[in-house]
Amino acid sequence: MPASPAPAPLTDQQAGLLNQLTDGLDGSGLWWLSGYAAGLARGQALVTRPAPAIAAPVTGATASPTLTIVYGSQTGNAKRLAEKLAAQSEAAGASVRLLRADAYPTRELKDERQLYIVISTQGEGDPPDDAIGLVDFIRGRRAPKLPELKFAVLGLGDSSYPQFCEIGRVLDARLAELGASRLFERGDADLDIDSVATPWMARAVEAAKALAKASPARSATVTPLRPLPAAPAFDRDRPFDAELLAGHALSAPGGLRTPRGRDVRHFELSLEDSGLHYEPGDALGIWPRNPPALVQGVLDALGLDGDQAVDLADETRPLREWLGDKRELTRLSRPFLAAHAERAGDAALGALLEPDGRDALARLFDEQQVIDLLQRHPAQWDAASLVAALRPMTPRLYSIASSQKHAGDEIHLTVAHVEYAVDGQSRWGCASNFLARATEGDRLPVYVEANERFRLPADPTRDIIMVGPGTGVAPFRAFVQERAITGASGRNWLFFGNPHFRTDFLYQLEWQRALRDGHLDRIDLAFSRDQAHKVYVQHKLRDQGREVYARLEEGAHFYVCGAIGMGKDVHAALLDVIVEHGARSAEDAEDYLARLQQQGRYARDVY
Ligand SMILES: Cc1cc2nc3c(=O)[nH]c(=O)nc-3n(C[C@H](O)[C@H](O)[C@H](O)COP(=O)(O)OP(=O)(O)OC[C@H]3O[C@@H](n4cnc5c(N)ncnc54)[C@H](O)[C@@H]3O)c2cc1C
Ligand SMILES: Cc1cc2nc3c(=O)[nH]c(=O)nc-3n(C[C@H](O)[C@H](O)[C@H](O)COP(=O)(O)O)c2cc1C
Repeated sequence: MPASPAPAPLTDQQAGLLNQLTDGLDGSGLWWLSGYAAGLARGQALVTRPAPAIAAPVTGATASPTLTIVYGSQTGNAKRLAEKLAAQSEAAGASVRLLRADAYPTRELKDERQLYIVISTQGEGDPPDDAIGLVDFIRGRRAPKLPELKFAVLGLGDSSYPQFCEIGRVLDARLAELGASRLFERGDADLDIDSVATPWMARAVEAAKALAKASPARSATVTPLRPLPAAPAFDRDRPFDAELLAGHALSAPGGLRTPRGRDVRHFELSLEDSGLHYEPGDALGIWPRNPPALVQGVLDALGLDGDQAVDLADETRPLREWLGDKRELTRLSRPFLAAHAERAGDAALGALLEPDGRDALARLFDEQQVIDLLQRHPAQWDAASLVAALRPMTPRLYSIASSQKHAGDEIHLTVAHVEYAVDGQSRWGCASNFLARATEGDRLPVYVEANERFRLPADPTRDIIMVGPGTGVAPFRAFVQERAITGASGRNWLFFGNPHFRTDFLYQLEWQRALRDGHLDRIDLAFSRDQAHKVYVQHKLRDQGREVYARLEEGAHFYVCGAIGMGKDVHAALLDVIVEHGARSAEDAEDYLARLQQQGRYARDVY
């Protein structure tokens, strides 16, 4: 007998009421509600005292000895660490509240006693989107003096960016300036996050234990802000081997050949039997492998034997395997460059790491890979030192281009193949090439990275405006599929752009069909190089400013996905639209957009 489907958790009427309740709630309201519901689920304890750990003010001397952990995270790393830290601190006896930065009630900062901040740096030294408000507050003039506060900051970043861990650094310095005492030194974690995060977390847990001992927690009255979600069977550390079902070109041959000469491809993978679930707006993480030819090139450049065993941190593997699966060969890092410059005795190379070498360093990181450095600046490396100095492999994220309601067990991606030449030799991006060279039936290690800040409106009658040029269109394919299958009545408006109509109109037929079937209300196209002057999505947005503003005023949600630079240009265009059509000052327009962002009605996913 076929299994009967699990009953829906809510009746239609309840779902309708929930939509009414949540629609328009800002981040802190939604988090409050989630804590409240979690409390109800745990028993009756919180019924009469809703979600104290999320909303109850910490009130100076009478407060429970709460340790507050706040995270700001764009792609999930800081969130994962903060959740782990909260669990470990609780196990050590502390009463903990864990908050995403946009749920942090800033008025409570002055009454905090112990605060840990785990935060990444994004964009070009910017805060993650969920932490913009908190970082502005702490940096700003309204931040209170904090003589009673003890704090510690863990910054996450990538040392190949010029402003490495900038936001962690800024918050750490500012909290000290406000009179708070640093419990221990800030951690600046590079992409091999654990080497810095693990010892930092150990110190943080020790300090939490001391706090718990000094003033035992009234655990009956303090509940963690949010129960930790049950661990899925597959995640970043335990990826699922998904079968590649299909892959084909989206951009036609003969398109623009930039110095990076990229073509865009559509991939379909199977999640069958994984139990993995995704929502429109989520990303798929992929653990890539370097191509064997590149690994061989590195071995040849250094005269090393790929079969020799290398031990590192209790792992023994042949050197070839370390280089293929476990180390970055396509992205350089500061520590590797420093070590190589020393081995090569190359002072000019070492000078790039000085502050005035910043621009040249950024260019080198952008243009060269490990093999280029080895070929241009020869040096001796032994196998063990090489493995220890190279950066551990990190997964790459791709916006999911399908709705699970539509695609079932499949998951679709839209990927630009990064390829270019250095000294006449072909170079590829690790993950985009890993996908490009995979063939149907291959299995690729993947996991789902949820993105709670990039979600369709809970209210299906709301309009949405989507700006997604290039591969930025990927999540909007998922959005439109989802809204079609759920019968959402709100209007869907897409701004898409790319160099040429003929070669680069990604998913052209699908958009035309969606327009015909009423699943897309309108599409505005910016093919930048099809006319004498360049036209981009931000120009189209300004052209349509009156209608864009009218829809925002009616409650539309606005989404942007794609390149960082485009995201900044669209932000500026949107401010202009609000100034012009809302008859507001520039400052009011900034406030207007900030409010939309807080309400989850202006969401960005830029990379
Ligand atoms: C949340 C999120 C969502 C994303 N969604 C998508 C998506 O839907 N589709 C998509 O194609 N990508 C997406 N990306 C980017 C993706 O994760 C990879 O960064 C990209 O594919 C390059 O990775 P790679 O391993 O191929 O290149 P790497 O091995 O990381 O880089 C190799 C070299 O190429 C350079 N390089 C890297 N990327 C580019 C680029 N785009 N243009 C020029 N040079 C480059 C690097 O500086 C480096 O020197 C997303 C990123 C994030 C954070
Ligand atoms: C688009 C983008 C921009 C980034 N910019 C910076 C930067 O300016 N400085 C830095 O140190 N790290 C930068 N990073 C690296 C992230 O901080 C790093 O990947 C971190 O582990 C992400 O943590 P999260 O997942 O919690 O956001 C950037 C990452 C991305 C994807």
